[in-house]
Amino acid sequence: MTIHKVSAQAIGHAVKLLKSGEVVAFPTETVYGLGAVALWDHPVTKIYALKSRPPENPLIVHVTNLEMAKSLAVLDDRAQSLIEAFWPGPLTIVVELREDASVSKWVTSGLPTVAIRSPSHDVARKLMLELDLPLAAPSANRSGRVSATSAAHVVDEFDDALSFVLDGGSCPIGLESTIVDLSTLGSASLLRPGGLARKLVEDVIGPMDDGLDEKGVIKSPGRLKHHYAPTLPLRLEARLPLANEAFLAFGPTDRTNAIATLNLSEAADLEEAAANLFSMLRALDHSDAECIAVGPVPDRGLGEAINDRLRRAATPKQ
Ligand code: TXA
Ligand code: MG
Repeated sequence: MTIHKVSAQAIGHAVKLLKSGEVVAFPTETVYGLGAVALWDHPVTKIYALKSRPPENPLIVHVTNLEMAKSLAVLDDRAQSLIEAFWPGPLTIVVELREDASVSKWVTSGLPTVAIRSPSHDVARKLMLELDLPLAAPSANRSGRVSATSAAHVVDEFDDALSFVLDGGSCPIGLESTIVDLSTLGSASLLRPGGLARKLVEDVIGPMDDGLDEKGVIKSPGRLKHHYAPTLPLRLEARLPLANEAFLAFGPTDRTNAIATLNLSEAADLEEAAANLFSMLRALDHSDAECIAVGPVPDRGLGEAINDRLRRAATPKQ
């Protein structure tokens, strides 16, 4: 794989590859994405193959603006209010797919709904404005693994299976977008807590439910219980690490005899912790420890999304 530092030339090169049906990795404010033009079947199927992603797990379509969103989806008042408040930014909305929308069936896994978002990252925006087509992009990691928040992580995931990554440094938010389902008539559902805290969304559209169906299963195909997982097992809510463990701390901690220690945020700042989460999990995964002990993280603000990722990473593969 070739890593291309961001420049006008590198962005132009990426656009050319995308238009010729290739897959390109690029930075967003949340995590790195694996992009392909959303209108064409062949490039989109390449994404599924690269990630070993089950075809029933749909992709997010990235758009440059409201007009492009309207060409794909039916937007009600709630959708328009959220777009006005938070786009471009780390919010994905699931809305009704327009019948005349020309996105590949692979993107939506044949569902009558589509997930759309407009990223705010400068590099993603430049890329998308030059491309001027909807861009399907999941997180740039193999299915079930820790998301990538730097170009080096993308290389760790795909190596030579992918030819082009646009290197825009570390992702400032470090957690995937918040996904809100607006496709049902009842209350909106929080399908995935993410880089935009629940309260900010609820201040605009009122309380959200958890998007569970009659059987208690979440109405989002990709919300696997086991996900975001490093190779080592995780032990959560650990006050102190054991001697054979690596320690992922949060807030001020005393010296421990852990094999390796990293701190998500010594100042107990949840935004700092979010930005560090995936890269620190990857780093501790490379230590000689037998397990990663993780200190308690409060559930407020971005803590809800951090704890969601940690719980899934700690759930054994079925
Ligand atoms: O921050 C992000 O959202 C990143 C960056 C690259 O934009 N993308 C990302 O994509 O996290 P991915 O594919 O890793 O996660 C998308 C999630 C999956 O859980 C998928 O099931 C859900 O969105 N999703 C997509 N379309 C959906 C739909 N129509 N209904 C319900 N869930 C949907
Ligand atoms: Mg993902």
